[in-house]
Amino acid sequence: MKHYKFAIIPGDGTGPEVVNEGLKVLSAAAQKFGFKYEKIVYDFGGERYKRTGEVLPASAVDELQTFDSIFLGAIGHPDVKPGILEKGILLRLRFDLDQYINLRPVQLYDDRFCPLKNKKPEDIDFVVVRENSEGLYKGLGEFQNKGTAQEVAIQVSHNTRKGVERCLRYAFEYTQKRNKRKKLTLCGKTNVLTFAFDLWERTFNELAKEYPDVQTDYAHVDATTMWFVKNPEWFDVIVTDNMFGDIITDLGAMIQGGMGIAAGGNINPNGVSMFEPIGGSAPKYTGKNVINPLAAICAGAMLLEQIGEDKAGEAIVNAVKTVAQTKLKDLAAGKMGYSTTEVGDLVVKQL
Ligand code: IPM
Ligand code: MN
Repeated sequence: MKHYKFAIIPGDGTGPEVVNEGLKVLSAAAQKFGFKYEKIVYDFGGERYKRTGEVLPASAVDELQTFDSIFLGAIGHPDVKPGILEKGILLRLRFDLDQYINLRPVQLYDDRFCPLKNKKPEDIDFVVVRENSEGLYKGLGEFQNKGTAQEVAIQVSHNTRKGVERCLRYAFEYTQKRNKRKKLTLCGKTNVLTFAFDLWERTFNELAKEYPDVQTDYAHVDATTMWFVKNPEWFDVIVTDNMFGDIITDLGAMIQGGMGIAAGGNINPNGVSMFEPIGGSAPKYTGKNVINPLAAICAGAMLLEQIGEDKAGEAIVNAVKTVAQTKLKDLAAGKMGYSTTEVGDLVVKQL
């Protein structure tokens, strides 16, 4: 029997509540599909920071390298200035563990959950491959004459050939493996960001020659947001830089039914990956047992697929789909017709 070791970071706000449901489902899947896992829980997040003044202990990254995978709830605390925890924990882990892909599936499970008119599950079924280690997130820049009338704030998008190429290669291979429409769209802004997206476009076109079975397409980021609303059925796999990927995946989450269902994976194909619901810590719902745990449960399914437990991952996704379709009134917090823990139980039962 396979035996895995998972690091659990419940984090802030509703993170711990949804992680509990995710673990409930992972345990059920382990029993059903015959694997075991051991978990170690880390208390990284706002509360720990307030108590100790430390965002991440020095040993954290080295320790996390020893796990098969990481399961994360949410990072972000209303009492802590924006940026400290995000940069100090979430982005730090993404960078230091070299999780250079942020994989975000966008899939509609029921017409009822879609805010768009006349869109069906078969119309909204695509995946965004977001570069996760460079771009504007690199944090390069400076203030000049800070606090004066002559102030200048510079924020640089840093794109390396190596970083762009490995992301694009992952996207081409993912498109092949996904084996649906085999269409890969590069989302950029070649008409304005003529350095960064020139590199992206050149590399994209070069790699395309190695993947003749993948149909390629290009869309500017502004147009991409338009197509998400108007013709989401055009997309299969979309590859884009870190910042654009951040923005378009929130829109993607909304057209699939909201943050309650949107999961993502921070992936290092050769190392340790980290899976999370992408919705954030939702402080106003904390402790109320009303938040939707399906995003966290789907993140757990992605985790299993990444470590090779594909059947278990697929079964969880199918159970989530059925529960969403047949039981839930809505996917939004407080409107599901069930509590957080009840939704977790329903998925376990379905599994
Ligand atoms: C996300 C989040 C993060 C990001 C924040 C919390 C730093 O919005 O995972 O999409 O911008 O990447
Ligand atoms: Mn985001």
